[in-house]
Amino acid sequence: MTDRYAVVGNPISHSKSPQIHMAFARQTQQDIHYEAILAPQNEFQSTVNTFRQQGGKGMNITVPFKQEACQIAASLTERARIAGAVNTFKFADGHIQGDNTDGAGLIRDITINLKIPVTGKRILLMGAGGAARGVILPLLQQHPTRLVIANRTPQKAQLLQQQFSEFGPVIASGYMDLPGECFDIIINATSASLNNALPELPSKIFTTDTLAYDMMYSTEPTRFLNYAAQQGVRHLADGIGMLVEQAAESFYLWRGIRPDTRNIITNLKKI
Ligand code: ATR
Repeated sequence: MTDRYAVVGNPISHSKSPQIHMAFARQTQQDIHYEAILAPQNEFQSTVNTFRQQGGKGMNITVPFKQEACQIAASLTERARIAGAVNTFKFADGHIQGDNTDGAGLIRDITINLKIPVTGKRILLMGAGGAARGVILPLLQQHPTRLVIANRTPQKAQLLQQQFSEFGPVIASGYMDLPGECFDIIINATSASLNNALPELPSKIFTTDTLAYDMMYSTEPTRFLNYAAQQGVRHLADGIGMLVEQAAESFYLWRGIRPDTRNIITNLKKI
């Protein structure tokens, strides 16, 4: 029998997850169906329950429900608990297991696809919202020299520093009072690109060897990636690779098989 999976969010029509998971299923010869479900803002839990009652085996959760998903899971993996957000449900043994594969997806994209190690590097993470929070622990587990978290509202970065300092060298900052140093990897985890905006950045944070990584993606390069290119940065990446890699991690959790992501990333980048 065909196993059913879905991504739930609001809005959801733009989601590439059905396309990605159906490509994984064809490649690995898994008999699954994967759909996109729009949940009204205050009906997340009932939407999840309905899908479960209909025999659904698992779900991906996207904006704006990742925090709420954390509340309704009966059990959480450590990485989901520490992120305070869930992007994957597995329905098993009559209860909801919550996991978060976003950070693992980012790390796999940077270290395996882009072949850039994080270990021993100076990292700047821009943003202190849900997207940033989800990738801090996986980044620290790679043992960077330091992880600077910069945010428009510096207090939010300070809270993250307090929470994550036990896991590695985290420093909170505002954008314009960043330590006067270059970074090896700069990750934009703000939602500024959605509004075609860019936090004001000091000029000397990039070198030509810096990796500029925007967790967002769109058909055109984001403001952040355009700005980095203007500063002479040659290594630029948008969030398509992370999107496919986090999906592959979810697929692995559900099906026990790790799909090959390379062709799918290449095809999505062409669109
Ligand atoms: P998400 O789940 O996408 O992370 P969020 O939790 O609302 O969404 O967080 C949005 C992040 O983008 C925050 O770090 C926000 O900065 P503030 O905490 O100061 O609000 C950041 N952000 C959004 N628009 C921005 C802009 N135009 N310039 C700088 N930072 C911006």
